[in-house]
Amino acid sequence: MPEPSPLIKSLRAAVEAAPDDVPLRLHLAELLLGLGEGHEAISHAAAALQREPGNLEAQALMARAVAPPAAPAAPPPAPPTPEPPSAAPPSGQAYDWQRAEDELSGIVPPRFVDDHDCPAARAGDTPEPPHTAQDGAPGPDDTGGLWDVEHATLTLADVGGMDEVKQRLEAAFLAPLRNPDLRRLYGKSLRGGLLMYGPPGCGKTFIARAVAGELGARFMSVSISDVLDMWMGNSERNLRRLFETARRHAPCVLFLDELDALGAKRSQIRHTGMRTTVNQLLTELDGIGAADDGVFVLAATNHPWDVDTALRRPGRLDRMLLVVPPDRPAREAVLRHHLKDRPVAGIDLAALAKRTEGFSGADIEHLCESAAEQALMDSVRTGEARMIGMADFAAVIGRIRPSTGPWFASARNVAQFADEGGAYGELLAYLKKRRML
Ligand SMILES: Nc1ncnc2c1ncn2[C@@H]1O[C@H](COP(=O)(O)OP(=O)(O)OP(=O)(O)O)[C@@H](O)[C@H]1O
Ligand SMILES: [Mg+2]
Repeated sequence: MPEPSPLIKSLRAAVEAAPDDVPLRLHLAELLLGLGEGHEAISHAAAALQREPGNLEAQALMARAVAPPAAPAAPPPAPPTPEPPSAAPPSGQAYDWQRAEDELSGIVPPRFVDDHDCPAARAGDTPEPPHTAQDGAPGPDDTGGLWDVEHATLTLADVGGMDEVKQRLEAAFLAPLRNPDLRRLYGKSLRGGLLMYGPPGCGKTFIARAVAGELGARFMSVSISDVLDMWMGNSERNLRRLFETARRHAPCVLFLDELDALGAKRSQIRHTGMRTTVNQLLTELDGIGAADDGVFVLAATNHPWDVDTALRRPGRLDRMLLVVPPDRPAREAVLRHHLKDRPVAGIDLAALAKRTEGFSGADIEHLCESAAEQALMDSVRTGEARMIGMADFAAVIGRIRPSTGPWFASARNVAQFADEGGAYGELLAYLKKRRML
C-alpha cells in the first residue's frame, strides 16, 4: 500500500481526536474512497451513520463505497482511479451532492407503507418533543442558571392518542383554568395542583410540557432529587426562590418531577433537613393560587404510594392522574417520531403499533434504535447499504420486553390492598379493564 499523503494522515488524526465530527469524517471518507481505500471509507461512513442515521451525504457515500466495483477490485495505485460516472471524483472536491441526492431520491422506496395523515401521525411528525427555547430574560436576582425557564411550544395535539388521559386532564385541570369566569367564581377552590403517576417512560414529563403549551405558560422542570442534593442545608430558602422564580415568569407551569424522592411520611423522616424541606414545600403549595399568581403546579412520580400524604391534601397536589402506557395511536405517534430522521423504507407503523402493546415510549425508542443498529450492522457485514425495514424490526422485537410490567405488578398490590380513600380508583379501573387484576 502506498504511503498515505500528509493530508490523509492529518485528517485521520483529526478524526481520531474528534470522533463525533461527522462532516470531518465524511470528508476523510470521501478522499479515501477516491484513493480506492474502500474498506476504510466504509468504516468511516458507518461511524458517521451511527451518529447521524439520517445524514444523506453519509448514506450516499456508504452506497457508493459498498457498491460492487465496476472496475477490478484492486484499485490501480498512483494516478487517480477512472471511476464510473456517478462515483466519487478523485479529489473529493467537485462531487455533485445534489445530483447524488436526486438520483437516490428516485430509487428510495416509500418510507411508510400506509402514509395516510391521521392526527396522531401528524403529531409524530411535529418537531422534537421537548422543543422549547430557554427563556432569554432572567431577572436580576435570578436563579443563577439553576433552573431553566422554557417557552413551551408543545401542546396536547402533539401527544398522540391517549384520549382518556387527555379527557381527564381537561376535566380535572385544564378546563377550569382555561375559563376565567370559572376561575373567578371558584376562586380559592381552584388552588392546588395535579399529581401524575404511572410506569416510567410513558409520557408524564411530555404531558406536563404539553400542559404548559396549552395554557400558553412557561415551563420549569425541577427534579426533587436534584433539589435534595443541591440544597442540603438551605433548602427552605432555595425552595422559596424556586417558587418566586416561577411567579416572576408567570404564567408558568412548575413541574416537580420525582416527587417521591421526598419520601416517606413526615413522621418517619428523621433527617431534619428533609423535614423542613417537606414543610417548606407544603407552605409554598398553600401559597400558590391564593393570589391568582399564574403558577400552576404539576408533579410526577412513579411511586405515588411513597408520596407524603400531606402533599396530597386538598388545595395541594389534590388531583391524581394516571398516565398509562401509550395506546395504539400513541405508539404509532411515538414510532413515527423516532423514525422520522432515520433511513427507513416500507415501515408498517400500524403493524408495529399493534405488536408493541404494553411498551412505554422509552421502550419504543429503544426498539427503533435496535432496528437501526440491526440494519447498519447488516449493511456493514454484507457490504450493501440498505434502508431500515420491517425485517429489522422483526429481528429485534422479540428481544425487547415491555418495561412497564414490574411497575404494574407493584401497583396492583397497592391499588388492591392500600387504596387510601379511593385515590387509586383510576388505576383499579385500568387494571380491571385489562384483566390485570
Ligand atoms: N402519547 C405520546 N405521544 C408522543 N410521544 C410520546 C407519547 N407518550 C410518550 N411519548 C414519548 O415517550 C418518551 C418518554 O416520555 P417521558 O419522558 O415524558 O416519560 P415519563 O413518564 O416522564 O418517564 P419517567 O418516569 O422515566 O420520567 C418521550 O420521548 C416522549 O416523547
Ligand atoms: Mg419524566
